[in-house]
Amino acid sequence: MSKFVIIGRKKLFGEVAIGGSKNAVLPILAATVLINGKSTIHNCPNISDTHTSIEILRHLGCKVLYDGYTAIVDATNIDKTSLPTSHVQKMRSSIIFAGALLSRFGEFSSTTPGGCRLGERPIDMHINAFSALGATFDQNPDIIAAKADKLIGNTMCLSTPSVGATQNAMLAAVYAKGETTITNAAKEPEVVDLQNFLNKAGANINGAGTETIAINGVTKLHSAEYSIMPDRIVAGTYLVAGAISRGNITLKNVNYKDVSPVAFALAQTGAKIVCHGNEINLTMKHRPIALPSPLTTAPHPGFPTDMQPQFTALLATAHGTSTINEKLFEARDAHIAELSKMGAKITNTDNRRFLIEGVAALRGRVTYAKDLRGGAALILAGLASHGITVVENAHYIQRGYEDIAGDLKQLGAAISFLK
Ligand code: UD1
Repeated sequence: MSKFVIIGRKKLFGEVAIGGSKNAVLPILAATVLINGKSTIHNCPNISDTHTSIEILRHLGCKVLYDGYTAIVDATNIDKTSLPTSHVQKMRSSIIFAGALLSRFGEFSSTTPGGCRLGERPIDMHINAFSALGATFDQNPDIIAAKADKLIGNTMCLSTPSVGATQNAMLAAVYAKGETTITNAAKEPEVVDLQNFLNKAGANINGAGTETIAINGVTKLHSAEYSIMPDRIVAGTYLVAGAISRGNITLKNVNYKDVSPVAFALAQTGAKIVCHGNEINLTMKHRPIALPSPLTTAPHPGFPTDMQPQFTALLATAHGTSTINEKLFEARDAHIAELSKMGAKITNTDNRRFLIEGVAALRGRVTYAKDLRGGAALILAGLASHGITVVENAHYIQRGYEDIAGDLKQLGAAISFLK
Protein backbone atom coordinates (compact mmCIF):
# COMPACT_ATOMS: atom_id res chain seq x y z
CA MET A 1 0.00 0.00 0.00
CA SER A 2 1.58 3.32 -1.00
CA LYS A 3 1.82 6.03 1.64
CA PHE A 4 3.16 9.44 2.57
CA VAL A 5 5.54 9.81 5.50
CA ILE A 6 5.97 13.26 7.05
CA ILE A 7 8.32 14.52 9.74
CA GLY A 8 6.45 17.55 11.07
CA ARG A 9 7.20 21.02 12.41
CA LYS A 10 9.22 22.38 9.49
CA LYS A 11 8.27 25.90 8.35
CA LEU A 12 7.57 25.97 4.62
CA PHE A 13 9.11 28.66 2.44
CA GLY A 14 9.79 29.23 -1.25
CA GLU A 15 7.83 28.94 -4.49
CA VAL A 16 5.83 26.27 -6.23
CA ALA A 17 3.78 26.31 -9.47
CA ILE A 18 0.19 25.07 -9.60
CA GLY A 19 -0.84 22.68 -12.39
CA GLY A 20 -4.08 22.23 -14.29
CA SER A 21 -7.42 21.71 -12.56
CA LYS A 22 -8.77 18.20 -11.98
CA ASN A 23 -12.37 19.37 -11.99
CA ALA A 24 -11.86 21.29 -15.24
CA VAL A 25 -9.91 18.64 -17.14
CA LEU A 26 -12.50 15.87 -16.60
CA PRO A 27 -15.46 17.63 -18.32
CA ILE A 28 -13.19 19.05 -21.01
CA LEU A 29 -11.79 15.62 -21.87
CA ALA A 30 -15.40 14.39 -21.97
CA ALA A 31 -16.26 17.34 -24.26
CA THR A 32 -13.67 16.17 -26.82
CA VAL A 33 -16.14 13.34 -27.59
CA LEU A 34 -18.36 15.98 -29.25
CA ILE A 35 -15.72 16.83 -31.84
CA ASN A 36 -15.41 14.82 -35.02
CA GLY A 37 -11.67 15.53 -35.17
CA LYS A 38 -8.71 16.33 -32.94
CA SER A 39 -8.61 18.31 -29.70
CA THR A 40 -5.33 19.41 -28.18
CA ILE A 41 -5.60 20.01 -24.44
CA HIS A 42 -2.62 21.50 -22.62
CA ASN A 43 -1.97 21.74 -18.86
CA CYS A 44 -3.75 18.43 -18.20
CA PRO A 45 -2.76 17.46 -14.64
CA ASN A 46 -0.87 14.19 -14.47
CA ILE A 47 -3.21 12.62 -11.90
CA SER A 48 -4.95 9.27 -11.82
CA ASP A 49 -8.38 10.80 -12.65
CA THR A 50 -6.91 12.17 -15.92
CA HIS A 51 -5.62 8.68 -16.73
CA THR A 52 -9.03 7.17 -15.95
CA SER A 53 -10.69 9.69 -18.32
CA ILE A 54 -8.19 8.85 -21.04
CA GLU A 55 -8.91 5.13 -20.59
CA ILE A 56 -12.63 5.89 -21.02
CA LEU A 57 -11.91 7.88 -24.20
CA ARG A 58 -9.86 4.94 -25.57
CA HIS A 59 -12.62 2.48 -24.59
CA LEU A 60 -15.08 4.58 -26.64
CA GLY A 61 -12.77 4.36 -29.66
CA CYS A 62 -10.80 7.63 -29.44
CA LYS A 63 -7.10 7.79 -30.21
CA VAL A 64 -5.35 9.59 -27.35
CA LEU A 65 -1.75 10.71 -26.96
CA TYR A 66 -0.80 12.03 -23.51
CA ASP A 67 2.70 13.06 -22.44
CA GLY A 68 1.81 14.04 -18.85
CA TYR A 69 0.98 17.63 -19.88
CA THR A 70 -0.75 17.72 -23.29
CA ALA A 71 -3.49 15.33 -24.37
CA ILE A 72 -4.31 15.03 -28.06
CA VAL A 73 -7.67 13.34 -28.51
CA ASP A 74 -8.92 12.19 -31.90
CA ALA A 75 -12.61 11.35 -31.47
CA THR A 76 -13.28 10.75 -35.19
CA ASN A 77 -13.79 7.00 -34.92
CA ILE A 78 -15.80 6.52 -31.74
CA ASP A 79 -17.55 3.16 -32.02
CA LYS A 80 -19.09 2.70 -28.57
CA THR A 81 -21.56 4.71 -26.51
CA SER A 82 -21.46 2.61 -23.32
CA LEU A 83 -19.21 3.60 -20.43
CA PRO A 84 -16.97 0.87 -18.96
CA THR A 85 -18.41 -0.32 -15.62
CA SER A 86 -15.03 -0.58 -13.89
CA HIS A 87 -14.29 3.07 -14.65
CA VAL A 88 -17.73 4.33 -13.61
CA GLN A 89 -17.22 2.57 -10.26
CA LYS A 90 -13.68 3.96 -9.88
CA MET A 91 -14.57 7.57 -10.75
CA ARG A 92 -18.15 8.72 -10.16
CA SER A 93 -17.67 11.76 -12.35
CA SER A 94 -17.35 9.42 -15.40
CA ILE A 95 -21.05 10.22 -15.79
CA ILE A 96 -19.88 13.50 -17.37
CA PHE A 97 -19.28 11.53 -20.61
CA ALA A 98 -23.04 10.89 -20.85
CA GLY A 99 -24.03 14.37 -22.04
CA ALA A 100 -21.43 14.44 -24.80
CA LEU A 101 -22.28 10.93 -26.07
CA LEU A 102 -26.00 11.71 -26.06
CA SER A 103 -25.44 14.96 -27.92
CA ARG A 104 -23.22 13.55 -30.67
CA PHE A 105 -24.63 10.02 -31.07
CA GLY A 106 -28.17 10.28 -29.66
CA GLU A 107 -27.49 7.56 -27.05
CA PHE A 108 -25.39 6.45 -24.11
CA SER A 109 -25.48 3.74 -21.48
CA SER A 110 -23.73 3.25 -18.19
CA THR A 111 -24.09 1.25 -15.02
CA THR A 112 -25.51 3.40 -12.23
CA PRO A 113 -22.63 5.11 -10.41
CA GLY A 114 -22.77 3.88 -6.81
CA GLY A 115 -22.70 5.97 -3.67
CA CYS A 116 -19.27 7.18 -2.66
CA ARG A 117 -17.46 7.94 0.55
CA LEU A 118 -18.90 11.46 0.62
CA GLY A 119 -22.47 10.14 0.71
CA GLU A 120 -25.16 9.14 -1.76
CA ARG A 121 -24.48 11.65 -4.55
CA PRO A 122 -27.53 11.03 -6.75
CA ILE A 123 -27.58 11.87 -10.49
CA ASP A 124 -31.29 12.66 -10.77
CA MET A 125 -30.59 16.20 -11.99
CA HIS A 126 -28.37 14.94 -14.83
CA ILE A 127 -31.18 12.59 -15.92
CA ASN A 128 -33.79 15.36 -15.65
CA ALA A 129 -31.65 17.65 -17.80
CA PHE A 130 -31.31 15.00 -20.54
CA SER A 131 -35.07 14.30 -20.35
CA ALA A 132 -35.84 18.01 -20.72
CA LEU A 133 -33.92 17.94 -24.01
CA GLY A 134 -36.00 14.98 -25.23
CA ALA A 135 -33.99 11.90 -24.17
CA THR A 136 -35.90 8.80 -23.08
CA PHE A 137 -34.60 6.28 -20.57
CA ASP A 138 -34.80 2.50 -20.09
CA GLN A 139 -36.40 1.59 -16.79
CA ASN A 140 -33.66 -0.81 -15.63
CA PRO A 141 -32.53 0.18 -12.10
CA ASP A 142 -28.91 -0.99 -12.62
CA ILE A 143 -28.31 0.55 -16.04
CA ILE A 144 -28.85 4.10 -17.22
CA ALA A 145 -29.53 3.93 -20.94
CA ALA A 146 -30.78 6.99 -22.84
CA LYS A 147 -31.79 7.56 -26.42
CA ALA A 148 -32.91 10.59 -28.41
CA ASP A 149 -33.61 10.83 -32.15
CA LYS A 150 -33.12 14.57 -31.99
CA LEU A 151 -32.43 16.66 -28.91
CA ILE A 152 -34.43 19.87 -28.79
CA GLY A 153 -33.41 22.93 -26.75
CA ASN A 154 -35.48 23.65 -23.66
CA THR A 155 -35.50 25.71 -20.49
CA MET A 156 -34.53 23.91 -17.30
CA CYS A 157 -34.15 25.06 -13.72
CA LEU A 158 -31.81 23.01 -11.55
CA SER A 159 -33.17 22.30 -8.07
CA THR A 160 -29.67 22.96 -6.68
CA PRO A 161 -26.67 24.41 -8.56
CA SER A 162 -24.96 21.07 -9.22
CA VAL A 163 -21.62 21.40 -10.99
CA GLY A 164 -21.83 18.04 -12.78
CA ALA A 165 -25.48 18.45 -13.81
CA THR A 166 -24.78 21.95 -15.18
CA GLN A 167 -21.84 20.65 -17.21
CA ASN A 168 -23.72 17.58 -18.45
CA ALA A 169 -26.67 19.78 -19.51
CA MET A 170 -24.27 22.09 -21.38
CA LEU A 171 -22.62 19.15 -23.16
CA ALA A 172 -25.95 17.58 -24.09
CA ALA A 173 -27.30 20.89 -25.43
CA VAL A 174 -24.36 21.73 -27.72
CA TYR A 175 -26.00 20.07 -30.77
CA ALA A 176 -29.62 20.35 -29.56
CA LYS A 177 -31.87 22.26 -31.96
CA GLY A 178 -32.61 25.83 -30.83
CA GLU A 179 -31.85 27.44 -27.49
CA THR A 180 -31.36 25.74 -24.13
CA THR A 181 -31.44 27.83 -20.97
CA ILE A 182 -30.14 26.48 -17.67
CA THR A 183 -31.22 28.50 -14.64
CA ASN A 184 -29.89 28.08 -11.10
CA ALA A 185 -26.74 26.84 -12.86
CA ALA A 186 -23.51 26.18 -10.95
CA LYS A 187 -21.18 29.21 -11.12
CA GLU A 188 -17.92 27.35 -10.47
CA PRO A 189 -14.88 28.49 -12.49
CA GLU A 190 -14.63 24.98 -13.97
CA VAL A 191 -18.04 25.53 -15.62
CA VAL A 192 -16.59 28.67 -17.22
CA ASP A 193 -13.55 26.70 -18.40
CA LEU A 194 -15.84 24.16 -20.09
CA GLN A 195 -17.78 26.95 -21.81
CA ASN A 196 -14.53 28.53 -23.02
CA PHE A 197 -13.27 25.25 -24.49
CA LEU A 198 -16.57 24.46 -26.20
CA ASN A 199 -16.84 27.96 -27.66
CA LYS A 200 -13.27 27.68 -28.96
CA ALA A 201 -14.42 24.54 -30.78
CA GLY A 202 -17.37 26.42 -32.34
CA ALA A 203 -20.16 26.07 -29.75
CA ASN A 204 -22.41 29.02 -28.90
CA ILE A 205 -22.67 29.22 -25.10
CA ASN A 206 -23.04 32.30 -22.92
CA GLY A 207 -23.46 33.01 -19.24
CA ALA A 208 -21.22 30.42 -17.53
CA GLY A 209 -20.10 31.87 -14.21
CA THR A 210 -23.58 33.33 -13.67
CA GLU A 211 -26.73 31.50 -12.64
CA THR A 212 -28.17 31.48 -16.17
CA ILE A 213 -26.43 29.75 -19.05
CA ALA A 214 -27.76 29.92 -22.63
CA ILE A 215 -26.70 27.38 -25.23
CA ASN A 216 -27.63 27.94 -28.85
CA GLY A 217 -27.40 24.62 -30.64
CA VAL A 218 -24.86 24.35 -33.48
CA THR A 219 -24.56 21.67 -36.14
CA LYS A 220 -20.81 21.16 -36.05
CA LEU A 221 -17.79 21.65 -33.80
CA HIS A 222 -14.24 21.82 -35.10
CA SER A 223 -10.78 20.89 -33.82
CA ALA A 224 -9.57 23.12 -31.01
CA GLU A 225 -6.54 23.74 -28.84
CA TYR A 226 -7.03 24.75 -25.20
CA SER A 227 -5.15 25.10 -21.92
CA ILE A 228 -6.82 23.95 -18.68
CA MET A 229 -7.24 26.53 -15.86
CA PRO A 230 -5.06 26.23 -12.73
CA ASP A 231 -6.34 24.00 -9.94
CA ARG A 232 -7.86 26.26 -7.27
CA ILE A 233 -8.21 23.39 -4.76
CA VAL A 234 -4.54 22.37 -5.05
CA ALA A 235 -3.66 26.06 -4.64
CA GLY A 236 -5.92 26.31 -1.56
CA THR A 237 -4.39 23.14 -0.09
CA TYR A 238 -0.85 24.53 -0.48
CA LEU A 239 -1.89 27.87 1.05
CA VAL A 240 -3.15 25.95 4.08
CA ALA A 241 0.20 24.07 4.13
CA GLY A 242 1.94 27.45 4.34
CA ALA A 243 -0.38 28.59 7.12
CA ILE A 244 -0.33 25.41 9.22
CA SER A 245 3.48 25.32 9.11
CA ARG A 246 3.76 29.06 9.91
CA GLY A 247 5.68 29.55 6.70
CA ASN A 248 6.13 32.04 3.88
CA ILE A 249 5.27 30.58 0.49
CA THR A 250 4.51 31.83 -3.00
CA LEU A 251 2.27 29.98 -5.44
CA LYS A 252 2.75 30.64 -9.16
CA ASN A 253 0.16 30.17 -11.87
CA VAL A 254 -2.92 30.84 -9.73
CA ASN A 255 -6.07 32.77 -10.55
CA TYR A 256 -6.57 34.84 -7.39
CA LYS A 257 -10.27 35.40 -7.98
CA ASP A 258 -10.89 31.64 -7.98
CA VAL A 259 -8.97 31.17 -4.73
CA SER A 260 -10.37 34.26 -2.97
CA PRO A 261 -13.04 32.50 -0.80
CA VAL A 262 -10.22 30.38 0.67
CA ALA A 263 -7.80 33.33 0.90
CA PHE A 264 -10.43 35.32 2.78
CA ALA A 265 -10.90 32.55 5.37
CA LEU A 266 -7.12 32.17 5.71
CA ALA A 267 -6.76 35.89 6.35
CA GLN A 268 -9.29 35.52 9.19
CA THR A 269 -6.99 32.97 10.82
CA GLY A 270 -4.18 35.54 10.78
CA ALA A 271 -2.39 34.78 7.50
CA LYS A 272 -1.13 37.70 5.43
CA ILE A 273 -1.92 37.19 1.77
CA VAL A 274 -0.55 39.29 -1.06
CA CYS A 275 -1.39 38.79 -4.70
CA HIS A 276 0.72 39.94 -7.70
CA GLY A 277 -0.69 39.01 -11.11
CA ASN A 278 -0.96 35.24 -11.11
CA GLU A 279 1.17 34.76 -7.98
CA ILE A 280 -0.03 34.57 -4.37
CA ASN A 281 2.20 34.94 -1.34
CA LEU A 282 1.13 33.74 2.10
CA THR A 283 2.94 34.53 5.33
CA MET A 284 1.85 33.13 8.69
CA LYS A 285 3.97 34.29 11.60
CA HIS A 286 2.10 32.76 14.54
CA ARG A 287 -0.31 30.04 15.54
CA PRO A 288 -3.54 30.36 13.52
CA ILE A 289 -6.42 31.99 15.34
CA ALA A 290 -9.90 30.47 15.45
CA LEU A 291 -12.47 31.81 13.00
CA PRO A 292 -14.72 34.54 14.43
CA SER A 293 -17.86 33.02 12.89
CA PRO A 294 -18.84 29.57 11.54
CA LEU A 295 -17.40 28.59 8.18
CA THR A 296 -20.11 27.09 5.98
CA THR A 297 -19.43 25.26 2.74
CA ALA A 298 -21.50 26.50 -0.20
CA PRO A 299 -21.56 26.50 -3.99
CA HIS A 300 -19.16 28.98 -5.64
CA PRO A 301 -18.45 31.78 -4.77
CA GLY A 302 -18.99 30.39 -1.26
CA PHE A 303 -16.36 28.45 0.67
CA PRO A 304 -15.67 25.22 -1.30
CA THR A 305 -16.55 21.87 0.25
CA ASP A 306 -13.37 20.55 -1.38
CA MET A 307 -11.37 22.72 1.09
CA GLN A 308 -13.37 21.77 4.20
CA PRO A 309 -11.11 18.88 5.37
CA GLN A 310 -7.93 20.95 4.89
CA PHE A 311 -9.46 23.81 6.90
CA THR A 312 -10.56 21.37 9.59
CA ALA A 313 -6.90 20.35 9.95
CA LEU A 314 -5.77 23.99 10.10
CA LEU A 315 -8.37 24.98 12.69
CA ALA A 316 -7.48 21.90 14.77
CA THR A 317 -4.18 23.69 15.49
CA ALA A 318 -5.70 27.17 16.01
CA HIS A 319 -5.91 29.24 19.15
CA GLY A 320 -9.57 29.03 20.18
CA THR A 321 -12.65 27.16 18.99
CA SER A 322 -14.08 27.29 15.46
CA THR A 323 -17.15 25.84 13.80
CA ILE A 324 -17.43 24.37 10.31
CA ASN A 325 -20.78 23.50 8.73
CA GLU A 326 -20.52 20.99 5.88
CA LYS A 327 -23.59 21.72 3.78
CA LEU A 328 -22.90 19.91 0.50
CA PHE A 329 -22.03 16.31 1.33
CA GLU A 330 -23.58 14.38 4.20
CA ALA A 331 -20.58 12.10 4.79
CA ARG A 332 -17.58 14.34 4.23
CA ASP A 333 -16.19 13.68 7.69
CA ALA A 334 -13.90 10.62 7.47
CA HIS A 335 -10.84 12.78 8.21
CA ILE A 336 -12.20 13.73 11.64
CA ALA A 337 -11.56 10.36 13.29
CA GLU A 338 -8.03 10.33 11.81
CA LEU A 339 -7.28 13.88 12.97
CA SER A 340 -8.59 12.93 16.41
CA LYS A 341 -6.00 10.11 16.56
CA MET A 342 -3.40 12.86 16.14
CA GLY A 343 -4.76 14.73 19.16
CA ALA A 344 -7.26 17.05 17.46
CA LYS A 345 -10.32 17.94 19.55
CA ILE A 346 -13.21 17.89 17.13
CA THR A 347 -16.84 17.13 17.90
CA ASN A 348 -18.93 16.11 14.95
CA THR A 349 -22.36 17.20 16.12
CA ASP A 350 -25.61 16.39 14.35
CA ASN A 351 -26.30 17.97 11.04
CA ARG A 352 -22.68 18.01 9.85
CA ARG A 353 -21.52 20.70 12.21
CA PHE A 354 -17.92 20.32 13.37
CA LEU A 355 -16.85 22.03 16.62
CA ILE A 356 -13.07 22.36 16.50
CA GLU A 357 -11.25 23.22 19.71
CA GLY A 358 -7.72 24.07 18.59
CA VAL A 359 -4.78 22.38 20.32
CA ALA A 360 -1.25 23.76 20.58
CA ALA A 361 0.27 20.76 18.79
CA LEU A 362 -0.79 17.56 17.07
CA ARG A 363 1.11 14.27 17.35
CA GLY A 364 2.31 12.17 14.44
CA ARG A 365 0.40 8.88 14.04
CA VAL A 366 -0.31 6.24 11.42
CA THR A 367 -3.44 7.53 9.66
CA TYR A 368 -5.60 6.37 6.76
CA ALA A 369 -6.84 8.51 3.90
CA LYS A 370 -10.46 7.58 3.14
CA ASP A 371 -11.01 10.06 0.32
CA LEU A 372 -9.06 12.60 -1.74
CA ARG A 373 -9.38 15.89 0.18
CA GLY A 374 -9.62 14.21 3.58
CA GLY A 375 -6.31 12.51 2.74
CA ALA A 376 -4.72 15.85 1.85
CA ALA A 377 -5.91 17.19 5.22
CA LEU A 378 -3.98 14.42 7.00
CA ILE A 379 -0.78 15.40 5.16
CA LEU A 380 -1.35 19.02 6.26
CA ALA A 381 -1.90 17.90 9.85
CA GLY A 382 1.34 15.92 9.57
CA LEU A 383 3.20 19.11 8.64
CA ALA A 384 2.12 20.63 11.98
CA SER A 385 2.65 17.53 14.15
CA HIS A 386 5.41 16.50 16.50
CA GLY A 387 7.09 13.31 15.30
CA ILE A 388 6.29 11.19 12.27
CA THR A 389 2.92 11.00 10.51
CA VAL A 390 2.13 8.22 8.07
CA VAL A 391 -0.77 8.71 5.64
CA GLU A 392 -1.75 5.35 4.19
CA ASN A 393 -3.94 4.88 1.06
CA ALA A 394 -1.96 7.39 -1.00
CA HIS A 395 -3.96 6.40 -4.10
CA TYR A 396 -6.89 8.53 -2.95
CA ILE A 397 -4.66 11.60 -2.80
CA GLN A 398 -3.07 10.85 -6.17
CA ARG A 399 -6.53 11.21 -7.76
CA GLY A 400 -6.20 14.96 -7.41
CA TYR A 401 -2.59 15.98 -6.65
CA GLU A 402 0.11 15.46 -9.28
CA ASP A 403 3.03 15.36 -6.86
CA ILE A 404 2.06 16.68 -3.44
CA ALA A 405 5.19 15.19 -1.82
CA GLY A 406 7.49 16.74 -4.45
CA ASP A 407 5.79 20.14 -4.18
CA LEU A 408 5.85 20.25 -0.38
CA LYS A 409 9.46 19.02 -0.36
CA GLN A 410 10.32 21.89 -2.71
CA LEU A 411 8.86 24.18 -0.03
CA GLY A 412 11.06 22.60 2.65
CA ALA A 413 8.77 19.93 4.10
CA ALA A 414 10.24 16.61 5.20
CA ILE A 415 7.86 14.34 3.30
CA SER A 416 8.37 11.16 1.28
CA PHE A 417 6.12 9.10 -0.92
CA LEU A 418 6.65 5.37 -0.44
CA LYS A 419 5.32 2.99 -3.09
C1 UD1 B 1 -18.24 18.57 -8.21
C2 UD1 B 1 -16.75 18.39 -8.00
C3 UD1 B 1 -16.46 18.03 -6.55
C4 UD1 B 1 -17.08 19.06 -5.62
C5 UD1 B 1 -18.56 19.27 -5.93
C6 UD1 B 1 -19.18 20.41 -5.13
C7 UD1 B 1 -16.01 17.54 -10.16
C8 UD1 B 1 -15.47 16.40 -10.94
N1 UD1 B 1 -16.30 17.31 -8.87
O1 UD1 B 1 -18.86 17.33 -7.92
O2 UD1 B 1 -15.04 18.00 -6.39
O3 UD1 B 1 -16.95 18.59 -4.30
O4 UD1 B 1 -18.72 19.59 -7.34
O5 UD1 B 1 -18.48 21.60 -5.36
O6 UD1 B 1 -16.16 18.64 -10.66
N2 UD1 B 1 -26.91 16.51 -6.35
C9 UD1 B 1 -28.15 15.92 -6.41
N3 UD1 B 1 -28.55 15.38 -7.60
C10 UD1 B 1 -27.76 15.42 -8.72
C11 UD1 B 1 -26.49 16.02 -8.63
C12 UD1 B 1 -26.09 16.56 -7.43
O7 UD1 B 1 -28.87 15.87 -5.43
O8 UD1 B 1 -28.20 14.91 -9.78
C13 UD1 B 1 -26.45 17.09 -5.05
C14 UD1 B 1 -25.22 16.36 -4.49
O9 UD1 B 1 -25.57 15.22 -3.77
C15 UD1 B 1 -24.59 17.44 -3.63
C16 UD1 B 1 -24.92 18.72 -4.41
O10 UD1 B 1 -25.97 18.41 -5.30
O11 UD1 B 1 -25.20 17.49 -2.38
C17 UD1 B 1 -23.77 19.30 -5.17
O12 UD1 B 1 -23.16 18.28 -5.94
P1 UD1 B 1 -22.52 18.57 -7.36
O13 UD1 B 1 -22.28 20.03 -7.52
O14 UD1 B 1 -23.33 17.89 -8.39
O15 UD1 B 1 -21.14 17.83 -7.23
P2 UD1 B 1 -20.36 17.08 -8.38
O16 UD1 B 1 -20.60 17.76 -9.69
O17 UD1 B 1 -20.61 15.61 -8.27
